[in-house]
Amino acid sequence: MTLEELKREIVDKNVCQNLAESATQLVMGEGNPGADIVFIGEAPGKKEDERGLPFVGASGRFLDEMLNAAGMDRGDVYITNIVKYRPPNNRDPSREEKAEFWPYLMRQIEIISPRVVVTLGRHSGMCFIPDLVISRDHGKGRNVKFHENEFLVIPLYHPAAALYNGSMRQVLIDDFLHAAKLARL
Ligand code: URA
Repeated sequence: MTLEELKREIVDKNVCQNLAESATQLVMGEGNPGADIVFIGEAPGKKEDERGLPFVGASGRFLDEMLNAAGMDRGDVYITNIVKYRPPNNRDPSREEKAEFWPYLMRQIEIISPRVVVTLGRHSGMCFIPDLVISRDHGKGRNVKFHENEFLVIPLYHPAAALYNGSMRQVLIDDFLHAAKLARL
């Protein structure tokens, strides 16, 4: 199965119909389908919903900066979200909405088969590491296994945090450089 086929299945099966009705389009993900690193945010925002691509707003520009610091760009990694439709008014996605997308996210990861999954933000991180304490655990890898999928999860702060807090920029860049190194091993 390809990512394109999985995308079609999500649309055809009316996954998360309540969000599909208010969103402009499904934001499946962007990047290299054979990437060693997959970034996972929470849900598309306004810009992402308009363009059909993940992380294209202000936090996306910072994500690009982190990639550049590691000598990479979007074509070297794969970027997606737990929930693939924009929640109305950018509210947090509900537990049910995340649960509806979870099996599709696992299949997406299975297709890409990355070495490292980098979660962006506490909410995304807690989907993989339920006892996550982001201030304590950011940047630290944990091996997780879901069905046949085994990968290293590295939780990062959300790039939006760096927009409000200057010292967070360097923390995020350092954590990502560490993640990139582990993905290359
Ligand atoms: N924030 C997210 O979590 N995901 C996006 O795609 C954009 C902003």
